[in-house]
Amino acid sequence: MSGKDFDVARVRADFPILHQEVRGRPLVYLDSAATTQKPQAVIDALVRYYTHDNANVHRGVHALSERSTAAYEGARERIRRFINARDTKEIIFVRGCTEAVNLVAQSFGRSKVGPGDEVLITAMEHHSNIVPWQMLCDKVGATLKMVPVDERGDLRLEQLDALLTERTRILAVTHVSNALGTVNPVKEIVKRAHAKGVPVLLDGAQALQHFRVDVQDLDCDFYALSGHKAFGPTGIGVLYGKASVLESMPPWQGGGDMILTVTMEKTVYNRLPYRFEAGTPDISGAVGLAAALDYIDSVGLDAIAAHDRDLLEYGAQALEAIPGLKLLGRGRERSGVLSFIMEDVHAHDVGTILDREGVAIRAGHHCAQPLLSCFGVAATVRASLAMYNTREDIDALVRGLHKVREVFA
Ligand code: ALA
Repeated sequence: MSGKDFDVARVRADFPILHQEVRGRPLVYLDSAATTQKPQAVIDALVRYYTHDNANVHRGVHALSERSTAAYEGARERIRRFINARDTKEIIFVRGCTEAVNLVAQSFGRSKVGPGDEVLITAMEHHSNIVPWQMLCDKVGATLKMVPVDERGDLRLEQLDALLTERTRILAVTHVSNALGTVNPVKEIVKRAHAKGVPVLLDGAQALQHFRVDVQDLDCDFYALSGHKAFGPTGIGVLYGKASVLESMPPWQGGGDMILTVTMEKTVYNRLPYRFEAGTPDISGAVGLAAALDYIDSVGLDAIAAHDRDLLEYGAQALEAIPGLKLLGRGRERSGVLSFIMEDVHAHDVGTILDREGVAIRAGHHCAQPLLSCFGVAATVRASLAMYNTREDIDALVRGLHKVREVFA
């Protein structure tokens, strides 16, 4: 137990998957940046939905369809409230952060970015917030530019104003780095971009599960969320967009629900948010995500954030005491991630040996190859934390790393 008012044993009791042995050892799950585990409340919400309410939304006149529609739209309102958006029409359900960024790159991008224009991202982005912009720039003849990163893993924000030119059409930046855990000062970044008339997309994949996100306070134009990174199901995510910006964007995918009327000659598109939700949506995913947000609030985001900070500090100190281990990413503010390399040992070998000890981490480039190349490495070992982790989990990691040292001595 750590952090005031936070009972980690009680939290762990809510996550059934954690109570198992892996390779004959108690599971130590330190890969929550890849995906978080799900509390029983989320699993129950999915079972309840399929057991009692399943039907298609916005279509049926029967009772189940009404219930399903109410559950789906209720989830939209739950998410609106959680991130403090002004209106549910600003909450668009998508498959995850990747789809959210692709939606903006294709819809906003294709209509507002032209030859000779610039798209600004950072060297810290996940591939999901690089490749959609590369594809857009290739298609329309625009240039992709990057804000560089310093040796501590912070953005070189002294270069931001010069990189925001009169040709910049959008800035896309991650709230928290998935590979290093750096928390970017996104409110300040949005302010500086807006001062030059540039809209901003924030990638919140690694933020929502760790601390409070308030889209009105951040004043971002878009915020991308991933359900499965925040204790919800896979396959569901959210694109938040300011209504005024979304209203100016053409539809992205065509199909059911995004139309009002169709003739062979012409289609009249639906209003927000449905205009961007073609086809039957992931209804159970939305219901599960709403249950996950209820769960987060029942534990309390302030308590979660304090617990995260405690674990991160404890973990950084414990890892730094291991000979030949180097932590990457010592930025001013960090959250949820301990990323490191070990002298003379490949990250994948570390991962394999830790797995034998029941310790699950991620080894590799973490879908952030440009960032790792800034540090001159191809791969790191990444231990990533969530509310159900304990100091004992960190201790198990450290014991495993001493075994790695013995094997490679
Ligand atoms: N984006 C996920 C990660 O960082 C998959 O592991």
